[in-house]
Amino acid sequence: MTTQHEPDSAEAVEKAISGALKMIPYGFHALTSKHGKEMNVMVLNWFSQVSFEPQHIVIGLQQTSTTYGLVEASGHFVVNIFHQAEADVVKQFSKSREKNPQKFEGAHWQPAPVTGVPVLDEAAAFLECEVAGELDTGAGHSVILGRVVGGGVRASHDPGEGLTLPHVGWSYSG
Ligand SMILES: Cc1cc2nc3c(=O)[nH]c(=O)nc-3n(C[C@H](O)[C@H](O)[C@H](O)COP(=O)(O)O)c2cc1C
Repeated sequence: MTTQHEPDSAEAVEKAISGALKMIPYGFHALTSKHGKEMNVMVLNWFSQVSFEPQHIVIGLQQTSTTYGLVEASGHFVVNIFHQAEADVVKQFSKSREKNPQKFEGAHWQPAPVTGVPVLDEAAAFLECEVAGELDTGAGHSVILGRVVGGGVRASHDPGEGLTLPHVGWSYSG
């Protein structure tokens, strides 16, 4: 007798997809932005390099965020990369600007050399990016393609020592 494979229920597939997505080991970064005198910082994990020459990165960005408006208006943003020791610094920026209007006042920063976008003092490294493209996912987030136009390393560390979501025990996926 042959055993017939029962197709998984839609619910089981949905659960499996969510479980697989939650297994992606994300970094935990901060995205800074500036338009005119307005500045902001938000936490970011949907971030990756996607080309070498020239160097591009992508971020997944919520369209209702304050950051999205600033990035759209200015065409620039900075990704701040941290050592694990700075977990508490990054965590303090996890609420939206709407829920925490004073959020940026807690940031210590200097303007980045090329774009003038804030770079957080505690960042081990940073990448200055110019918006090179946008793909609307139709699901509330856009994929923003950034051409890397500047950057710096303040305190080099092994990638394994970098701040990650598994390190802080948080998740933003699924
Ligand atoms: C752990 C964690 C990771 C997050 N990663 C992202 C991300 O990669 N992209 C994104 O758009 N929002 C992300 N968020 C949600 C943003 O923080 C949220 O959209 C916030 O509203 C943006 O802040 P803003 O409105 O001050 O710009 C994350 C939130 C948490 C708690």
